Amino acid sequence: MPPRPKTNAGRRSAPGSAWLEAAIRVPIAAADRVGALLIAAGSQGVITGVRELAHGARRRTHETVRGFFPSREPARARLAVSTALAQARDTGVRRAAVRWRELDASLWEMDWREHFRPVRAGRRLVVVPPWDRDDHGGRTRVVIHPGMAFGTGQHATTLASLEALEALASPPPARALDIGTGTGVLAIALAKLGVQEVVALDLDPQAVSAARGNVRRNAVAGRVQLVCRSLAEAVPAPPAGRGFPLVVANLYVDALVELAPAIAKRVVPGGRLVTSGVLRSQQARVRSAYAAPAWRLLSAQRRGGWVTSVFQRLPAPRPARPGTRGATPAAAPRAPRGAAPRRRARPRNR
Ligand SMILES: C[S@@+](CC[C@H](N)C(=O)[O-])C[C@H]1O[C@@H](n2cnc3c(N)ncnc32)[C@H](O)[C@@H]1O
Repeated sequence: MPPRPKTNAGRRSAPGSAWLEAAIRVPIAAADRVGALLIAAGSQGVITGVRELAHGARRRTHETVRGFFPSREPARARLAVSTALAQARDTGVRRAAVRWRELDASLWEMDWREHFRPVRAGRRLVVVPPWDRDDHGGRTRVVIHPGMAFGTGQHATTLASLEALEALASPPPARALDIGTGTGVLAIALAKLGVQEVVALDLDPQAVSAARGNVRRNAVAGRVQLVCRSLAEAVPAPPAGRGFPLVVANLYVDALVELAPAIAKRVVPGGRLVTSGVLRSQQARVRSAYAAPAWRLLSAQRRGGWVTSVFQRLPAPRPARPGTRGATPAAAPRAPRGAAPRRRARPRNR
């Protein structure tokens, strides 16, 4: 069976522009680390899992890791990659050669067609390309054509988000919010899991256009509302105590930290937030941005070098009554109507 490549979503470039691809061949054991280095250097997605036989060898020992950069700033991309590699601890990674090439729209299309295989997520979902006709054991199909956006559901962060959403949408809440929708994969999965109203937003017009096609392909246009705007513009802060019972944000650490106050205003007390797109080394920043008194961490799932977390929104502490010391501690939150049931409070796999 061919190795399953893992792709990650998230890119930003002018409409019609090409991608710049950096391909780095490294020992298999170093592939995830190199993928993480490429993301840290500004790659908007990575593909790993393309394993190769060295000349005369019987076992596959190496893997080519590929990162994608908007082609409008080639010098900056090259400098960022060479700086990131130079700082690696592993000598093999430090000395690894980088092959660069431009990918125009048709090459990109050929490339993802070659790599996109159906991916089973959780117990009920399968993400498939449009030409796939298999039944996949009766799983719910999420059909994705990535267009010029990343996000075919194959990267650890998307897969782990899908798994978390599947668990949290059982039973499904009435509404959900997907911040950084990319190809729309998570928003479509939410609608197919039974969420009646999904708001999905992205800053990138090409991502929203790819998502629009996918929403139609999956016949969920009546349930998924797509918006090419920032969170603040797309979803006005609701009155206190109102908002979404379920929010997912598979972004990157800086955006998650920056958006923390705005997200807190848009999740109902007792509601759940799934964060992903976070490297292990960055998880501490996410935990401190989503901490008490507003949040409680319910679970943190590691997959490859990535961490996907589920947080619970806590109610605001009650104001202090005269004659008492400080605020009354917040009562244990009750799950909002239609929200997912509470999960165990101890973080997993950290
Ligand atoms: C890693 S991709 C996730 C795509 C998809 N949700 C998935 O799970 O595969 C991140 C997406 O977030 C978008 N994005 C980045 N920062 C954002 C922000 N502050 N607000 C909204 N979208 C953002 C990017 O354009 C990109 O499409």
